[in-house]
This record gives sequence, structure tokens and C-alpha cells, in this order.
Amino acid sequence: MALGGVFLAGGVSAADPEAGRKVANMCRTCHGLDGYAAIPIAPHIGGEPQGYLEAQLMAFKTGARQHEMMSVVTAGLSAQQIADVAAWYAQFEVTATLPEGVTEADAPAGCVACHGADGLSALLDAPHLAGEVNIYIDTQLKAFRLGKRVHEIMSEVAADLTDEEIRAYADWYGAVTLEITASD
Ligand code: HEC
Ligand code: HEC
Repeated sequence: MALGGVFLAGGVSAADPEAGRKVANMCRTCHGLDGYAAIPIAPHIGGEPQGYLEAQLMAFKTGARQHEMMSVVTAGLSAQQIADVAAWYAQFEVTATLPEGVTEADAPAGCVACHGADGLSALLDAPHLAGEVNIYIDTQLKAFRLGKRVHEIMSEVAADLTDEEIRAYADWYGAVTLEITASD
């Protein structure tokens, strides 16, 4: 099994969440140790799919995705540390609760297939949007629309969105209450 992991990950040993916990000490002032963001501009990352977390960290490291804080943070991390810290944050459980007065039927129709009505992702490569600050969601959608962040699906989705739609979708997912708990 361990050997298979080595081959699959191209030289990186199987991801170790306990080793990742130590790496997460570098992240906690912004993302919390459980991935529930401690500052408004940082997204919640607890319970995100492991592959998504790892892909984003590698994108920051290689410059494919840019952010003044995350580019600096990832520059100092090895591929092994990135795999480990992704495994640490991915192991948490997430639950989402819609605000009073709305139902799943009110969710943005073009997003639910992948991000769920409540913002919990249905796909291994798509992030949860539940409870992210609306400005974070807004900024990411505009980055996809502008081509500052690139992804085969999201670039196409965002290309056709107006500012008003972006704002409405960001408000929808931002209004969901997210809870992150340790898995047992
Ligand atoms: C100084 C604050 C800070 C620190 C420390 C920090 N981050 Fe971040 N992180 C941010 C901000 C702000 C963003 C949003 C970037 C953007 O707007 O594109 C972010 C984005 C991310 C994302 C993308 C999430 C998504 O939903 O796409 C991941 C994954 C991430 N950080 C993981 C980490 C990990 C792992 C560490 C520790 C090794 C870490 N961060 C350390 C502030 C920080
Ligand atoms: C066919 C599946 C699919 C659909 C439909 C879709 N998304 Fe996505 N979305 C993804 C994937 C996959 C990613 C991860 C992109 C990456 O790896 O950079 C993503 C990423 C995002 C992000 C970045 C989140 C973060 O944490 O950084 C936002 C915001 C987002 N989507 C919003 C939306 C909204 C709003 C809609 C509806 C208008 C939508 N998406 C429709 C698959 C989808």
C-alpha cells in the first residue's frame, strides 16, 4: 500500500495527517488549526477534499494561482509538507445549515450540481463554498472571469456571470452556517 502511494504521488510518500498537524501550526493564525478561518480574508479549509487542497497549495507554490500571503507561505513548503497538511485539514467533518426562510430550491441552479445547494461540494475536485465570506467568493469568481485564476470548468462558468449574479451567488453561499468538527 505504502509503495503504491509512492508511485501514485510521484516520489512523495503517502500523506501523513499527523505530520501535517505540525505544518498546520504555520497556518493556524489565519485558517485555524481545524480549518475554520480565524481572519475574514482567509477561507475556511477544514473538511475540503484533500485533492483540492493539495492542488491549490501546489498552484500557489508554482505561481499558477497568486496571493501575496499564500505565495509566500507555500514557497517554503516541500511537496511532502503540502501533501501532509492537505491530509490534516481534509480529515475534518463539515456540516452546513441554510439560513432561516430559504429552501434548497432557492439555491443558484447553475452551481448546485457541483457545489451543492448548501455549499458542500459533491465532487472531489470542487471546494465547499458554505460559509465562506461573500467577498472571498466574489473575488474568486471575478478572478476566474478575468483570467487571473484559471480552471477549465470555472473559467467557463464565470465568463458568463454579471457582477449582480456574482454578488447574489456569493451572498447565497456566504449566508450558510458552516460547522467544522473533528472526525472520529
Ligand atoms: C497570513 C495568513 C495566512 C497564512 C499563514 C496561511 N494562509 Fe492560506 N490563505 C490565506 C488567504 C488570505 C487566502 C485566500 C487567497 C485568495 O484570496 O486567493 C488563503 C487561501 C488558502 C487556500 C485556498 C483555499 C480555497 O478554498 O481555494 C488554501 C488551501 C490555503 N490557504 C492553505 C493554507 C495552508 C495549508 C497554510 C499553512 C501551511 C496557510 N494556508 C497559511 C491566508 C493565509
Ligand atoms: C461542473 C462543476 C461546477 C459548476 C457547475 C460550478 N463549479 Fe465552481 N468550482 C468547480 C471546481 C472543480 C472548482 C475548483 C477550481 C480550481 O481547482 O481552481 C470550483 C471552484 C469555485 C470557486 C472557488 C472557491 C474557493 O474556495 O476558492 C468558487 C467561488 C466557485 N467555484 C463558485 C461557483 C459558482 C457561484 C457556481 C455557479 C454559478 C459554480 N461555481 C459552478 C466546479 C463547478
